[in-house]
Amino acid sequence: MKRSEINRRIDEAAAFWEGLGFRLPPWAGFSVGDWRRNAAVCREIFDLQLGWDVTSFGSSDFLKCGLLLFTLRNGRAGSDEYPKPYAEKIMMVREGQVTPRHFHWYKSEDIINRGGGNLVVELFRADPAENRICGGSFTISVNGIRKKLDSGDKLILSPGESCTMEHIHCHSFYGETGSGPCMIGEVSMVNDDRTDNCFVDGAIRFVPVEEDEPIRYPLACEYRKILAAN
Ligand SMILES: [Fe+2]
Repeated sequence: MKRSEINRRIDEAAAFWEGLGFRLPPWAGFSVGDWRRNAAVCREIFDLQLGWDVTSFGSSDFLKCGLLLFTLRNGRAGSDEYPKPYAEKIMMVREGQVTPRHFHWYKSEDIINRGGGNLVVELFRADPAENRICGGSFTISVNGIRKKLDSGDKLILSPGESCTMEHIHCHSFYGETGSGPCMIGEVSMVNDDRTDNCFVDGAIRFVPVEEDEPIRYPLACEYRKILAAN
């Protein structure tokens, strides 16, 4: 992705969330210089990669296949230093903007529509041991109520609704056409996006960035590189 698009999409997401009354931590607007000046007290943020995360999943069109996230809190599995067992993210998902089919070997997550348009969630039964979709029916908790679905079925989550992704729930999602962008929350077990996403159609989670303008907001995966360049 081009840096100019990453910068622009972050501005758009921050304005969208603010319009819905959702506020980010004070460091969400930190520049490269701000991070360098505050590096000594921000080790937890760097270690757990809290903050901005923008990806096109390797596609050429972020608006068709992409996701913008902000990790608000996280821990690290097996760590004495960061024993927090839970994580939280906020995301902006636009109409028809697909997050490709994937499941997680380790974490369970609740996907929550916190405002804006409706979220379409497509669900497929996964076999995590074999890294594939196996088909067949399954149950899933939707708003705390167990529901039976067949592989390939869709859920529509309107604002206030949520569902729980377990390991067998391979999921893809996008905003429903005509309902506007969605503010989506994720509450989960601790999260490591470098190792715990199985994209069954081969998407790339962290995409290379083309530096066509200065970095306005460093991505969470870039803190170390930026500080090392100081
Ligand atoms: Fe997921």
